[in-house]
Amino acid sequence: MSFKVAVVGATGNVGREMLNILDERGFPVSEVVALASRRSQGTEVSFGDRTLKVKALDQYDFSDTDICVMSAGGNVSKEWSPKIGKQGCVVIDNSSAFRYDQDVPLIVPEVNPDAISLFTRKNIIANPNCSTAQLVVALKPLHDVATIKRVVVATYQSVSGAGKEGMDELFTQTRAVFVADQVDVKKFTKRIAFNVIPHIDVFLDDGFTKEEWKMVAETKKMLDPKIKLTATCVRVPVFIGHSEAVNIEFEKPISADEARDILREAPGCQVLDKRENGGYITPLESAGEDATFISRIREDSTVDNGLSMWVVSDNLRKGAALNAVQIAELLVERGLIQPKKKAA
Ligand SMILES: NC(=O)c1ccc[n+]([C@@H]2O[C@H](COP(=O)([O-])OP(=O)(O)OC[C@H]3O[C@@H](n4cnc5c(N)ncnc54)[C@H](OP(=O)(O)O)[C@@H]3O)[C@@H](O)[C@H]2O)c1
Repeated sequence: MSFKVAVVGATGNVGREMLNILDERGFPVSEVVALASRRSQGTEVSFGDRTLKVKALDQYDFSDTDICVMSAGGNVSKEWSPKIGKQGCVVIDNSSAFRYDQDVPLIVPEVNPDAISLFTRKNIIANPNCSTAQLVVALKPLHDVATIKRVVVATYQSVSGAGKEGMDELFTQTRAVFVADQVDVKKFTKRIAFNVIPHIDVFLDDGFTKEEWKMVAETKKMLDPKIKLTATCVRVPVFIGHSEAVNIEFEKPISADEARDILREAPGCQVLDKRENGGYITPLESAGEDATFISRIREDSTVDNGLSMWVVSDNLRKGAALNAVQIAELLVERGLIQPKKKAA
């Protein structure tokens, strides 16, 4: 059984990683179609050892396509995902357009796989925000054992989270600083080279940013609506890999040793936690990896049943493309999707 898969946003950061991961994991494809805007029509992208010519989304007919992985931003998704879903093609969407829709499941396969069955309502499945995906992978196994009451998280998010323009801006600004050239600010709100910016996405009325709100709403939707969470999201001059300093208050006692043992066995998690120089993960080492890495696990005696830890993952993989491909795998494993075209 194999599936015709369309990758929308195939020329972007997430789309390119999507093509890599579909190939690496041997997802059963009969055909892969690379789609982007008309600007990229005819350009080439790699899928394993093959080269695909990019087609324009608005000229493509989805009627014989089984799965569409969509990574072209919220506005494109709002316009296209419902139309594609109505053509009987299951959309796995990376944008925030449908994440909070009651009729659209928001899925991290290690966390809430059973919620996927809801997808038939709109034929759309949402992928969470990159910073939430890695957080819930690390929180879920601890929540199952000791019940989380409250989480305080500060993020250190890489520029690739802002797309290829974000990566270009860090590169160009860094070069400009070294050659004493003028530093132009276009994509971010302040200079990102040799700086950090405590602002991701738009400001809301309560002073939080939309990125911070997403972490709250998505953790509640996927893990447990009773969990209280507060976040500060910060952009840092790192190309790939989001880091998070996480403080957790539990209902029940849990020691750092217990947490370490639980996380060592948990799906998608990798514990790297030695109390010595370099005995922890940094975002540089997480790039290109599938795992959510957890380091610096320690008890926080300033609250009852408190733990602190450091959580790092490749935002383009677990934070986006890998999670989307895992969702597609889950559809196939559970027999929730059948190819439209039967193999000859
Ligand atoms: N980066 C992350 O860590 C991350 C994590 C989770 C979710 N996401 C989400 O994934 C999506 C893509 O992010 P990204 O980082 O890959 O952005 P990106 O590098 O800027 O790529 C954007 C892609 O969207 C395509 N596109 C733009 N307008 C289009 C249109 N009108 N029709 C068809 N295709 C269009 C672009 O094609 P052209 O080359 O033709 O312009 C490009 O392929 C966003 O919704 C983002 O929020 C990103």
